[in-house]
This record gives sequence, C-alpha cells and structure tokens, in this order.
Amino acid sequence: MELPFAESYKIKMVEVIRRSTRAEREKWIQDARFNVFNLRSDQVFIDLLTDSGTGAMSDRQWSEMMLGDESYAGSSSYYKMKEAIRDIMGFEYFLPTHQGRAAENVLFSTMVKKGDLVPGNAHFDTTKGHIEFRRAEAIDCTIDEAFDTQISHPFKGNVDLGKLEHVLKSNPAERIPMIILTVTCNTSGGQPVSMENIKAVHSLAKKHGIPVVFDSARFAENAYFIKMREKGYGHRTIREIVREMYQYADVATMSSKKDAIVNMGGFIGFKDPELFRRASLYNIMFEGFITYGGMSGRDMNALAQGLYEGTEFDYLESRIRQVEYLWNRLNDLGIPVQQPVGGHAVFVDAKRFLPFVPASQFIAQTLVVELYLEAGVRGVEIGALMADRDPVTRENRYPSLELMRLTIPRRVYTNNHMEVVAVALKNIHDRKDSITTGYQIKHEASLLRHFTVELEKI
Ligand code: F0G
Repeated sequence: MELPFAESYKIKMVEVIRRSTRAEREKWIQDARFNVFNLRSDQVFIDLLTDSGTGAMSDRQWSEMMLGDESYAGSSSYYKMKEAIRDIMGFEYFLPTHQGRAAENVLFSTMVKKGDLVPGNAHFDTTKGHIEFRRAEAIDCTIDEAFDTQISHPFKGNVDLGKLEHVLKSNPAERIPMIILTVTCNTSGGQPVSMENIKAVHSLAKKHGIPVVFDSARFAENAYFIKMREKGYGHRTIREIVREMYQYADVATMSSKKDAIVNMGGFIGFKDPELFRRASLYNIMFEGFITYGGMSGRDMNALAQGLYEGTEFDYLESRIRQVEYLWNRLNDLGIPVQQPVGGHAVFVDAKRFLPFVPASQFIAQTLVVELYLEAGVRGVEIGALMADRDPVTRENRYPSLELMRLTIPRRVYTNNHMEVVAVALKNIHDRKDSITTGYQIKHEASLLRHFTVELEKI
C-alpha cells in the first residue's frame, strides 16, 4: 500500500479550546451585533477568521526570540532580517514595519498622491483603503474567470493584460505611480498568479516606465502553486521560484503575519536606493527608526527564521494540503466553493449557498453568522460589507462575489477540526431553503466598515 500523507512537523505545545452551546452562541452573537470581529476569542471553538498572525511558530522561531537584540539602532536582529530578505527575495534594501498595512502606509505616503490610479489584481482591503484614503483610485484588472467561482482556472489571481494595457494607454504615466500584484490574490480566493503573468505584467509596466509592487503576504504559497501548476516549474525548488518571481518586482510590501509565520511584523523591500531613502523618512515618522521600524529585535529574529521555514516545500505541502482537505470535503458534500483550491483559505460561494437572501441583506455575512451559531466556527465575510461604499457616491458597492472565507491558520488545527467545519456547513446547507432574510446596518464607520459594523437581524 502507498503510505498516506502526513504533516512534516509534530506538536510540542498545545492551547486548550472550548466548545459552547447554541444558546450561549445565540447570546454572544447578539451582544456582538452580529459582527464576528466583536466576539471574544474564547467564545469561538474553531477560529477561521484569518490566517494573519495566527500561525504557530516553530521551536526554532521561539529560540530565535531569545536571541533578539533590542538595540535601538543597528541591532543584529535587523541584520539577520536584512540577510534573510536579500537571500530569499533578492532585495538589497528594506524597511521593517509593524505589519503589512504599515508597509502600505509608508510606501504609499512616498509614492501615491491625490488623483492617481493604481491598477492591480483585486487589491486587498487595507491596500485599497490606503489608496482611497489618499483620494487615489484602485483599479481592479483581475481576469474575468476569477469572478465565476465554478470556473476552474489554475491562476485566478492573474491580471487581465488587456484591462491593464487599457488603463496604461488611456492615462498619463504620471498618474500611475505603481502596479500592484498581490501574490496570492487574497480577494479572489487565495488564488495564485502564474510566472508567465508576472513576467507579462512586468514587461508591460516597463514599457510604460511604471514600477511593479508585489503585495507579498502569501508569496511562498504563490510559489508553491507555480511549482505544482505551471509547466516547467515542477522540478524547481520553492526558493528558486521565489527568486525568479522577485526578479520582476521593483518593490515588495509584506505582511509577515502570513507566509513568514510570525504573530506580528512586516516590511518593505526595495531595489532602488533612492526610493528606499525617500520612504525611510516616512518609516521614521510612522513606524520607528529604520533598523527596527515598529518591530522588536526578537520579532525580527523570528521573522527571519520564519522566512526560511515558510519557503520550504515540505512545510508548504503540509499547509496547503490541509486547506485542500477541507476544500475536498466541502466539494464532496455539495457545498459551493471557489474552484480550484486556493492557498490560505476555502472560499464558500454564499450567493449559491443561500439563494434566497437578497444582496442588500448581506448574503455572505448571513452565512458567517449561521456557521457561528451552528458550531462556534468563526469565518469571515468577503462581500458587500467589506466592499464598503463608493468613496464618491457613498452608495453601497455590491461585488460580483459574495464569499465566506474559511481561513486556515498555519500549523494550528488538525484535520479533525476541518471535519467539524465541513459537517457544520452540511447541516446549514440541508436547511438553506428556510434561510431567506439577512441583516441591516445599524452603525458603520466611514472607511473599512466591516471591522466595526453593527448589524441587526431583519
Ligand atoms: N495584503 C494582503 C494580501 C493581505 O491579505 C493583508 C492582510 C494585508 C496586505 C495587510 O496586512 O494585516 O499585516 O496589515 N490580510 C489579513 C487577512 C488581515 O485576514 O486576510 P496586515
């Protein structure tokens, strides 16, 4: 018999989690105003809100914590991180930041101004938020296939080159400070961008003299998919693929809370020393001196170690096969999910799952609340709540996809936990015809409303 697959790690430390009763959950979600961000973590049994900062560090990362150098300037931890970024991604210059959106804040303060256009592949919400906050516009050029969950395209994070070229041709280059390539593309379902597409975006950008910025949160997962799905890459190592990817990036923003498997941290990588110098000013103002930028020395050490672990094939295989395990179970149970499997999460197509809830009543959010009530599982809405209002008209934006993201933390849960999630969704699916109403907004913030929105049941 062929031996079954098993994870390439064992567990050294555990954290107790607690099941709850449906009656408890009904009260808690009501108190949370039907916004799962307002739940206390001990009110959650299986937490699939995010894979960001929720991973389990390895024994080696924890030992690196002990070696952290907390000097204000020039600490050895800074140099360790610098060396890892140069070694893995090939950037000569970098600035540490406390997380990904801080990297965006520093970089966009340097590069983006009012009236600018920033094309890319389905910008993440903080990225879009930072662009719109500067009265600039994020233009989504993702391929159309990404917006049909039932089409199985191996690289649904790809940029539609026709759409991108149209933006580049119909606007002056001075208005386009950068093109952002998000690898993997979170918003379209943790879907990868192919090397071929990366190269093509880069050559279009160069033709127009525009820098390419990689939003790198899940760059290693992207490299894994290139290895597994793209012709000619099967025999290449993850690190080789990563190095090749970054030949086509001028700058990278990184939320290290994902593929560097740390609980907090981020950075910006630069090739151009002049841009690095200009951005350093904002880093000092917003984050901290350029050799710590919002991170402690111990965290920079763990991050450097995490970059190496996160780009090992065996780790990535264990990680993505767990996501695939849940994805396979849901497919088998007839639950509509984004095809094909993505890197960090399974995205449930809420419009197909709950066909009777009107779009104006927040379909994906309705499913998120149902799943919490059913089993204490916390997923997250990627739909109209997150899409927010149009910054000019203030009308609600209804994206073509209403998704519930089940985000799997790295090295945290077992497949038994995935099994609970699958069965909980099956139970809801069996009674989906009786779910016909959703929620309305009682209170919302003017930007990034989904974090703090208060809802009431219709
Ligand atoms: N870019 C991408 C693609 C992201 O997914 C995130 C965060 C960020 C940037 C911002 O990084 O959180 O460190 O400030 N994504 C988390 C998520 C929050 O749940 O998907 P951050």
